[in-house]
Amino acid sequence: MTWDLPLWQSLLPIGRHPATGGYRRYTFTEADSACREWFMNAAAERKLRVECDSVGNLWAWLDAGSDAAAVITGSHLDSVPDGGAFDGPLGVVSAFAAIDLLSERGWEPVRPVGVVAFVEEEGARFGLACLGSKLLTGVVEPDVARGLTDADGITFAEAMAGVGLEPRRLAADVGLADRVAAFVELHVEQGSALDGMGAAVGVGESIWPHGRWRIEFAGRADHAGTTRLADRRDPMLPYAATVLAAREAASELGALATMSKVRAVPGGANGICSAVQAWLDARAAAEETLESLVARVMECARGSADQHGVTVTSRRESFTPVVEFDRDLRDRVVTALARRGTTAPVLPTGAGHDAGVLAGVVPTAMLFVRNRTGVSHSPAEHAEPEDCAAGVDALAAVLEELACA
Ligand code: GLV
Ligand code: MN
Ligand code: MN
Repeated sequence: MTWDLPLWQSLLPIGRHPATGGYRRYTFTEADSACREWFMNAAAERKLRVECDSVGNLWAWLDAGSDAAAVITGSHLDSVPDGGAFDGPLGVVSAFAAIDLLSERGWEPVRPVGVVAFVEEEGARFGLACLGSKLLTGVVEPDVARGLTDADGITFAEAMAGVGLEPRRLAADVGLADRVAAFVELHVEQGSALDGMGAAVGVGESIWPHGRWRIEFAGRADHAGTTRLADRRDPMLPYAATVLAAREAASELGALATMSKVRAVPGGANGICSAVQAWLDARAAAEETLESLVARVMECARGSADQHGVTVTSRRESFTPVVEFDRDLRDRVVTALARRGTTAPVLPTGAGHDAGVLAGVVPTAMLFVRNRTGVSHSPAEHAEPEDCAAGVDALAAVLEELACA
């Protein structure tokens, strides 16, 4: 197949910021509604049956003549602030494209095949990553989700209601494990390991445990021109020390720490701020390492805050434990690809995915598509058209393998 798909082209303009070229597709906003409409049109064009579950996750079903457990594939359509075109949408577009490819060959799956677009995978609006799949699988309680707020204080429940969903109906799908035989998420690689291996497509092995913590430094607002340095209670200082400590601890522990999201309150140039709200994203190969990393960062935050007369509070906003993908399914995927002449290396990732959440409930696999620069969560994120096409071919092969037996 080739990657000159009208389906991909029609999604590209939605939610793209004209100045940065990055995507701002935040859950239950106008851009997100346009993405949801795009999904429903894509399903209708293919005569797939559309369902919206109680969370707002969208499903497009190719029904089979049996009630055998389904094979599902897909990803997400929301983005990080100024995200790339591929993170999420590549998996959804490839899912539809793989079904097209198989349908052209007269495919009649024995199992129902579903394409899913999960809500709020990035947690860019409500802070909790993979919220759609975590609600679906019961990892997050509906009451917790309903109360989450965005930067403007709008709750998840209010935002749901704003797009016509009913927050009172939020519930886990307790029958999911019985109704789904396997989930396969195709995703752009968010590093350049495949490029180094000379492979267009890879298979997921594991996901590093990761999470995000909100740290709030509260000081005292004051005048920048008249307050002596010794008299200040400036929350920016412990915040700055904490950023450096996070970097140092991550480097020493062989882990990753990022403090990219920050709000200075109220944020005037000629005033000391009253508070700094900051977020730590931390990831490591092992949970103990992650715990040590976070403990060291928090210790520095408390110590430095004390030194500057500032108080500090923190809370974990989002956490995903280590994920090892189902070994049997992984081997089956690798073998199915090898039979078609595709050597797909198996690799771990530090990026989070809905597949990591589904893996706790149903056998789950991931396919990664080469990203030559490895850049992601950036407008510069890119995958070559021939690699995207190879991804669709691989996904089609995997669906054929899983849905025909
Ligand atoms: C999602 O892409 C994440 O890893 O944060
Ligand atoms: Mn992402
Ligand atoms: Mn993603």
